[in-house]
Amino acid sequence: MKSESIYDTYDRKTNLHFDSRVVHGALGCEPVTGAVSFPIFQTATFRHRGFGLSTGYDYTRVQNPTRQELERTMAILENGEEGFAFSSGQAANMAVFGLLKPGDHVLLSDDIYGGTYRICSEFLRQAGCKFTCLDMGDPAAVEAAIRQETRMLFVETPTNPTMKTADIRALAEMAERHGLLLAVDNTFLTPYFQKPLELGAHIVVHSGTKYLCGHNDVVAGLAAVRRKALADHFRLQMKTRGNGLSPFDSWLLLRGLKTLSLRMEKHNANARAVAEWLKRHNRVKKVYDPGIGGMLSFELDSEEAVHRLLSNVNMILFAESLGGAETLITYPLTQTHESIPCEIRQRLGINERLVRLSVGVEDVRDIIWDLKQALES
Ligand SMILES: Cc1ncc(COP(=O)(O)O)c(C=O)c1O
Repeated sequence: MKSESIYDTYDRKTNLHFDSRVVHGALGCEPVTGAVSFPIFQTATFRHRGFGLSTGYDYTRVQNPTRQELERTMAILENGEEGFAFSSGQAANMAVFGLLKPGDHVLLSDDIYGGTYRICSEFLRQAGCKFTCLDMGDPAAVEAAIRQETRMLFVETPTNPTMKTADIRALAEMAERHGLLLAVDNTFLTPYFQKPLELGAHIVVHSGTKYLCGHNDVVAGLAAVRRKALADHFRLQMKTRGNGLSPFDSWLLLRGLKTLSLRMEKHNANARAVAEWLKRHNRVKKVYDPGIGGMLSFELDSEEAVHRLLSNVNMILFAESLGGAETLITYPLTQTHESIPCEIRQRLGINERLVRLSVGVEDVRDIIWDLKQALES
């Protein structure tokens, strides 16, 4: 069918700096009406003007202008060829692991989000694939673990929740040498602090629910890729599984993205101040501080102290998730990392004394005051 989409040409904004790109997106303004806020195309289907004629849009499961604006914006921000907006980070990760065929093997960060581990332990096994978890920060160990049937490295950096980091460029060179795909979950740092595709990764994925959205009001997954063949795979997954992000949620993501740079600066500054304060508190035995971004974890001297902290925080919210304006405190053992087998959790330090903090954008004095009163209650 002939496509006459008015949205076909968009500007990759290569002349603009990152902070301007987040504000201006791909098309930015809607070209017909000039609407500054890109509209929500709340429609399931699109009328054809005649036989053999299409506007470039047929059915929202397959493509929708609002989702497309978000996808193109993500491709611009991550410096990829194409972007994809899924209904959750899990859906985006399922599309990544959907690249594997029976018999394939994947190497994963050991200290990975519990839901990602569950994809491997439940679905990959059923699909006849194998996986090995290891410290991706140790390139020699990674290289030694590569087998004949290894096809992918899947990395979180920093990891969730113990904030271990990996050298994406070194892993990308290794992937190239062995003909592997390198996928990076960039949820914690976002393209504001880290651009995995520029460092040689083939795929970057996000729980868009977190910093990219930034307001704890949407569940979304985003991905960007460097190669056309990978883009075709992601498109087919979305079309077939029907897990593309809705027009309204895509619009909320576009709105959230406009302030990504501002928010990340404030998250980062607040997190560093909180980490320094925690390091000096006598109930805090260990602080996992990656030194960048808004996330940190810390270990208290007893399980009871953790229960008291979680029960007594006031402004800080005891809730799962991260990356929103509000400071959230999470208990990985029973929340985000419940799916990880107990012996692996203990080995990684995900124990009953560990809490994770997503440091918000409030006045840092209020965050520290709340932690102090809850720790000392
Ligand atoms: C690092 C990371 N990746 C992926 C996911 C899954 O994303 P979602 O909850 O949007 O499905 C999460 C969720 O917490 C996460 O923290």
